[in-house]
Amino acid sequence: MHPATEVFVDSKRIWEELEHLGGLSSTEAPSVTRILFTETDLKGRAYVRELMLEAGLTVIEDAVGNITGRWLGEMEDLARIGSGSHCDAIPHAGRFDGTVGVLGGIEAVRALRAAGFKPKRSIDIIMFTSEEPTRFGIGCCGSRLLGGALGPSSLAELKDSDGISFDQARTSAGYTGPLASVPLKGNEYKAFVELHVEQGPVLEAESLDIGVVTAIAAPASLELTFEGSGGHAGTVLMGDRRDALIPPAILAAHAEELAVNSDSKDTVATVGILEVYPGAVNSIPRKVRMTIDIRDTQLKTRDAVVSKIEERAEVLASERDLKLEMRTINSDEPAFANNELIAAIEDAACEFKSRRMVSRAYHDALFMAKVAPMGMIFVPSKGGISHRPEEYTSPDEIKQGVMVLAKTLAKLAC
Ligand code: HGY
Ligand code: MN
Ligand code: MN
Repeated sequence: MHPATEVFVDSKRIWEELEHLGGLSSTEAPSVTRILFTETDLKGRAYVRELMLEAGLTVIEDAVGNITGRWLGEMEDLARIGSGSHCDAIPHAGRFDGTVGVLGGIEAVRALRAAGFKPKRSIDIIMFTSEEPTRFGIGCCGSRLLGGALGPSSLAELKDSDGISFDQARTSAGYTGPLASVPLKGNEYKAFVELHVEQGPVLEAESLDIGVVTAIAAPASLELTFEGSGGHAGTVLMGDRRDALIPPAILAAHAEELAVNSDSKDTVATVGILEVYPGAVNSIPRKVRMTIDIRDTQLKTRDAVVSKIEERAEVLASERDLKLEMRTINSDEPAFANNELIAAIEDAACEFKSRRMVSRAYHDALFMAKVAPMGMIFVPSKGGISHRPEEYTSPDEIKQGVMVLAKTLAKLAC
């Protein structure tokens, strides 16, 4: 018999909690904005802490601001079972990205406790710091540090657009311990399973309830700054210009063309940031900063696109006698789910319609996979929409995801 056959998930309670958390935002509902270590992020953290304590979890916060709710197992020394996700949200996002994995993890623990389950191994529900790259340019700061994929000093020095360093921001949020104390030592986790909304159209299109993730695509992002001479839009003739906006414009179209014409349908390229200075209607752009996010499930394919973009950027800059500063913000490998965890999730999802699939979004699981066997559970996203206020997953779909998570955690913690 499955160790947690009789699991009752209180979908009304978790829905209300998701709604409450969604209201802790620096933008008007229905959009959600919760940027790392801002007032609304701190309110979100306080709420998660409160729910963890109410659920009888021991709350541990590390120096980077990862918040762990630990359900102590009977054999505390055994490697633990981890789960969780994030609660920070990019500007004008939705209510479900990340939060379903954190609040869903807490609900899974409550449901297992209510069913009388007693874990042999401790179960950790983790709210990771800064899964979104919004404030410091790189995502998954908490899980990267925990998983050893980012050094404490490189993280501490990152600066936001106001010149505030990560270290200053975390210490003003009350996280003052040494960042070097965060990386996991040895095999602290026997497994890590993340519940997350799909953020894509597949499950809905195929009328499925659960996605069993097999791999997480490899994200890379570049920052390019082109600098020319600017000048008056009326008096500088075309032949005399060093317009800093033209190469980024060409590069954006080129990145799209490379992704569309790639031999892999999983190749995606996005120019998400394009800042034009001085940004006046009658002034030739003097300095332009752009970011390009490039992903694929195949590292070789992704890196081929990245190199072509870098080469083209150099040529465009020299052809127009522009200064170019180009840096890699991140260039991560894909992660592959552990086969035993895939089987455990499929077993836990046996009463639902499920399929194996790739995650094209990255998640904290991408970095936890470096320190533990990893698995992910997806629930459907209406219209495949995410990173938009219209993001939606129904109470029943969330309930199903939490049930599968609870049963998977129970099986792993036995
Ligand atoms: O960008 C991503 O894939 C994630 O939502 N941060
Ligand atoms: Mn996201
Ligand atoms: Mn997410």
